Amino acid sequence: MADIHVRKLRFSFDDVPIDFSQSDEALAATLPLLGLSLTMPYLEPYLIRTMKLAMKQIRDPELAEDAMRFSQQEGHHYRNHADFNLRIRASFDAPTADAIRSIEQALEADYQRFSREKTLRFNLAYAEGFEAMTCAGALASAEHRTLDQVPGGEIWAWHMAEEIEHRTVAFQVYEHLVGSYAYRLLVGGFSQWHYGSYVQRFARCMARSLGRKLARPGQPVHRTALRNYLRTWSPRYDPAKIPLPEGVGDLLARYTALAESPLA
Ligand SMILES: [Fe+2]
Ligand SMILES: [Fe+2]
Repeated sequence: MADIHVRKLRFSFDDVPIDFSQSDEALAATLPLLGLSLTMPYLEPYLIRTMKLAMKQIRDPELAEDAMRFSQQEGHHYRNHADFNLRIRASFDAPTADAIRSIEQALEADYQRFSREKTLRFNLAYAEGFEAMTCAGALASAEHRTLDQVPGGEIWAWHMAEEIEHRTVAFQVYEHLVGSYAYRLLVGGFSQWHYGSYVQRFARCMARSLGRKLARPGQPVHRTALRNYLRTWSPRYDPAKIPLPEGVGDLLARYTALAESPLA
């Protein structure tokens, strides 16, 4: 069984500064990250719906427990992101906030349709494609220690550390119930393209409103993320073989203590 803790945390975003007067290079990192946050109240409930169905078929009790804790972690993630997203929309003028809302509605319609019309096999492969990609990015952020250098305060460090903590679950559930390498590549690739296209739509919408252009991301952390991501395409890819990066254990312990403190 994976070592997964469910931490019931709610962060406050009232005083979180969102500064857009950054260099083009910094903005090219910030806006897609805000786009990532905007997807979470739709993407993560879709992952939870998928896991809930999968749990009825999982024959290994330890894996079923992992799937449940995975879902509980994702539940706390998206609730915090929904609060942060209020802050993000409020940073823009009303027409831009409306445009952001309409992209959110299109994304939600896609995920509701996937849950309604697609097979569990498809939805599990989508979930694994998404988790593999975000884990690759989270590992790069941990390695370069960029988790706390972005707007949103602690939400990113906490969320990315927990993404690393539950890195094996979507893969193992996929392997347990589906198991096809070719299908993982096919639908995983679609998932990454589909999800990434929405993140880009959000980022371009915000950049337009700011009168800025999105520069190509070229920081060392992006190169590490790309290298990690390419490894997920290997037939030998197995997130269980990825050790916890230095510092992530301390971060997780810190958030466990925070969740257990009387002020949480
Ligand atoms: Fe998450
Ligand atoms: Fe996740």
